[in-house]
Amino acid sequence: MSKVLVSDPIDQAGIDILSQVATVDVKTGLKPAELIEIIGEYDALMIRSGTRVTQEIIEAGTQLKIIGRAGVGVDNVDVPAATRHGIVVVNSPEGNTIAAAEHAIAMMLSLSRHIPDANVSVKKGEWDRKTFVGAEVYKKTLGIVGLGKIGSHVAAVAKAMGMKLLGYDPFISTERAEQIGCQLVDLDLLIQQADYITLHIPKTPETAHLINATTLAKMKPTARIINCARGGIIDEAALAEAIKQGTIAGAALDVFESEPLGESDLRSLGKNVLLTPHLGASTAEAQVNVAIDVAEQIRDVLLGLPARSA
Ligand code: NAD
Ligand code: MLT
Repeated sequence: MSKVLVSDPIDQAGIDILSQVATVDVKTGLKPAELIEIIGEYDALMIRSGTRVTQEIIEAGTQLKIIGRAGVGVDNVDVPAATRHGIVVVNSPEGNTIAAAEHAIAMMLSLSRHIPDANVSVKKGEWDRKTFVGAEVYKKTLGIVGLGKIGSHVAAVAKAMGMKLLGYDPFISTERAEQIGCQLVDLDLLIQQADYITLHIPKTPETAHLINATTLAKMKPTARIINCARGGIIDEAALAEAIKQGTIAGAALDVFESEPLGESDLRSLGKNVLLTPHLGASTAEAQVNVAIDVAEQIRDVLLGLPARSA
């Protein structure tokens, strides 16, 4: 019987599917050296964002046929190394779209209304209504960077809340942007005019530090930025400085240049900075979706059927 290693927490629905065709070992929190030591026994590896599948791990995985990431990006897998070794890499491009979009909207509203800090304050026994005066999103301009699956759903929800939508995405047509209800503009204009900016793009060499000291300096002093896409699209040091200096009003981040987030000035910036630990896809529904989606692809490959590659 084939053997599958699940090295990050995934929903039981996925384990049940894998168990139809393989012996499944769930071993989470392994150090790279521990993973290298055992990976040679397995035909398939199933991960989320916690396991970094390096070339070394791939080389040690001499029996591996498939690596499945229960999520959208495959940026924690060395895909070229996997391809060189004939290992298929699969993912779940749509299973957590709604979860990630809703998290971005929740971050925007929470940041605007200071909900997390107000909640902590009341739980401490305080009744402070002055500190937590917020801002409305109604009639404000939301700049959406990346009008793919998540960006489009964010647009639909934001439109329903009465926001004006600007979009930047060099790979979609003006017609598609209009369907989504967005005016397609260049990045500079979006940055200068938006009251809220939300990022929904992959991390690539072109998007690394897309938001930096120069772009931050062009934003409105009342602007707030949300990143539920990938860490490293924003230069975190430049962002912390911009918030300290009042160059922009605030930020809500779910993803970081290095995860888990270590020492960071962002931690000490009070109610104008919200930080969550990469929770965009963490809903019960999304975890079932991605687990089933990826487990079915692994099962098929173990049965010798063709796979859809990431
Ligand atoms: P998608 O592929 O559907 O959309 C991405 C969009 O970005 C595309 O329309 C593409 O044309 C556009 N794009 C690419 N390069 C660009 C650039 N340089 N400038 C502007 N636009 C550019 O992807 P998606 O499913 O919408 O996911 C978006 C991001 O969210 C990804 O980075 C994904 O990994 C991340 N994500 C994070 C979480 C989380 O837990 N926080 C969960 C799911 C997805
Ligand atoms: C994704 O790319 O789908 C997310 O980062 C999901 C996750 O692993 O939490």
